[in-house]
Amino acid sequence: MSFSILGTGSALPERVVTNEELSHMVDTSDAWIRTRTGIRERRVCSSETVTELACQAAAKALTDSGCTAAELDLIICATISADYATPSMACILQDKLGAHCPAFDINAACTGFLYALDIAAGYFARKADQKILVVAAEAMSRLIDWQDRSTCVLFGDGAGAAVLGAGDGLLAIRTGAKGSIAPLYAPSSWGNSPFYTGNSAQPYLVMEGQEVFRFAVTSMVQTVEDVLAQTGVRKEELAWVLPHQANIRIIDAALSRLKIGSEKCLTNIADHGNTSAACAAILLDEANRAGKLKKGDLLAMTAFGGGLTTGACILRWDK
Ligand code: ACO
Repeated sequence: MSFSILGTGSALPERVVTNEELSHMVDTSDAWIRTRTGIRERRVCSSETVTELACQAAAKALTDSGCTAAELDLIICATISADYATPSMACILQDKLGAHCPAFDINAACTGFLYALDIAAGYFARKADQKILVVAAEAMSRLIDWQDRSTCVLFGDGAGAAVLGAGDGLLAIRTGAKGSIAPLYAPSSWGNSPFYTGNSAQPYLVMEGQEVFRFAVTSMVQTVEDVLAQTGVRKEELAWVLPHQANIRIIDAALSRLKIGSEKCLTNIADHGNTSAACAAILLDEANRAGKLKKGDLLAMTAFGGGLTTGACILRWDK
């Protein structure tokens, strides 16, 4: 026994930051950002907290699922940019939603939503009758150096959520990691410890873009091929591919190698940029609300991110 998706939700900050606006902050241009990444604009937290976005996304997912918070058996949040180191974002959501279940956060960077689905699948395998809320929420705007043009143009903030119930909609899921710091990291602060004698790094995200790009294309192709092989599903049978939204050129290169037509691919990178773990969950919710997902549709989700982590799954849309 695994799970099926019962409902989805998402939430974005009000503030839209266009490429044009960024071009007045750093040495960049709308043309460079659009042609090199596919991003036109992104949403950035101003007055909202990432916990508030997570809570809104979760509440919408509960409404869409027809479940109440009291029915939840577990809450998992995927985030690298929570408002608090403790309590976890998941514990705060438990309180705000009125749930009474265990709750914890995970960190798998941009692959966080897929890792959370994989963990949830383990819970369903252990005990059939459950309802699990999975939330992915990020305020990447707090991790990036807004004076670094090579990263600040890439990211956005947002949250997505899914309510899972016992079912057999998850046909296969695979997660992986290739542990390494250098290509993509964001240091934690040492605070004001008077005893720490090392170098206190700037707490901003640092990325070796081209190395991550190469890893991204290779790993997305490999993980999708793996889950297709595991399920016996043929590429032609997929209704939609939901790839991580880091760069439209990464998506195009992966689709081309997979020989999957771009008409099957869902994207929102132009409007949201890379919202890290939240990308996959927001993309799923937007497709659900736009009526693009039909009962029985086979979906391939794939992501990669800091860690370096990877993941992919094949889901049947049972709603
Ligand atoms: N505006 C204008 N010029 C820029 C900008 C910018 N915003 N950023 C970089 N440039 C310049 C560089 O300085 C360089 O100039 P030079 O040739 O004079 O040295 C030139 O543009 C080309 O730079 P590259 O780094 O080679 O550009 P590239 O085509 O590789 O694109 C990018 C950079 C967009 C970062 C790309 O490498 C990429 O998307 N990498 C993957 C990113 C990714 O997937 N990240 C995942 C994060 S997930 C997570 O877990 C948080």
